Amino acid sequence: MEPVGELSFAPVIPSLRLDVFRGDEWITAFANDVNYGLGSEPRELPPKYFYDARGSRLFDRITELPEYYPTRTERAILERCAGQIVGIAGAETLVELGSGSSHKTELLLEPLIERAANPLYVPIDFSESAVREASVRLIEKYTGLRVHGVIGDFEKHLGGLPPAPARLFAFLGGTIGNMKSDHMAFFLKRLGRLLGPADSLLVGVDLVKESGELEAAYNDAQGVTAEFNKNVLATINDNLSGDFDLDGFDHIAFFDPENSWIEMRLRANAAQSVRIGALDMRLEFEAGDEIRTEISRKFSREEIERELRIAGLEPYGWYTDEDSRFALTLAAPAAGQIALS
Ligand code: SAH
Ligand code: AVI
Repeated sequence: MEPVGELSFAPVIPSLRLDVFRGDEWITAFANDVNYGLGSEPRELPPKYFYDARGSRLFDRITELPEYYPTRTERAILERCAGQIVGIAGAETLVELGSGSSHKTELLLEPLIERAANPLYVPIDFSESAVREASVRLIEKYTGLRVHGVIGDFEKHLGGLPPAPARLFAFLGGTIGNMKSDHMAFFLKRLGRLLGPADSLLVGVDLVKESGELEAAYNDAQGVTAEFNKNVLATINDNLSGDFDLDGFDHIAFFDPENSWIEMRLRANAAQSVRIGALDMRLEFEAGDEIRTEISRKFSREEIERELRIAGLEPYGWYTDEDSRFALTLAAPAAGQIALS
């Protein structure tokens, strides 16, 4: 697929290029997903729609919260192991899926820049503000680094990535856990087919732990996660002419041990009627009615490694913290997989 546009910084910053895949069809996909999700029983919205500019800023605030351990734990693992990971992967290019603000990424970029003759960073994220701001910051910070940012959907637009040598695909933060099992299996299989013999995949996963610690991370005292959760309603209001009253919904987050995931919901705190103009849709809510807005899976090592193997990827590195809160797993296409696909 070709990009629908290019935000060219070429005259000013020759080492930076930004491709925009997220064109008008994005709104159609959003409308279809909202129509389907809110028209289904139980009502559900895909978590990728949290992240407009405001949602991305709220997520960045979540990463700083005392209760939200995943980001700082993953950062500490990278501080210790990024050099080793980049070295054994033999990486010269870093492709990052759902790159967000790319702060932890710097820990991978530094050893990459040291070892590669012509280092390239390819961040891909829905959020235009996140990709743009991170790309400009990194170009200014690291002399010799080229950045080819992609504003798009990593489930749709990976086929349009620029060709590059020895790619390390990084999928950090535990974002893979926001996909349900069948969705994740499909996604990993497609991603696995895209990897060549010199490429690797580094996936960050949050690990199963005691439910009190998990639930605290999604019910912070300052209420930032609640604001983030409600932001999905704001994105519907802004893009699809909705009239959700954000105060009419309460933030709910709990651990479901059967599925081993944190589930976030929005619960109507009073009966209300909502109209979504662009869908010509009217929704009636009774007090207590809920919309599921996110699942966040908590893995064991065996589970994530099994999922990778099913997708034709062979895990060859496991990096975790001393309390096994979070882990990074490194995988490559299994022998024979490349020829077969
Ligand atoms: N990797 C960062 C950010 C995680 S937040 C970290 O570890 O802190 C999840 C990010 O993934 C957000 O920036 C969001 O915009 C992006 N994202 C989620 N689904 C996406 C999709 N389908 N395509 C592109 N970006 C997506
Ligand atoms: C991006 N993702 C891995 C986060 C998570 O923990 O599942 C999103 C998030 N939701 C609430 N807090 C953070």
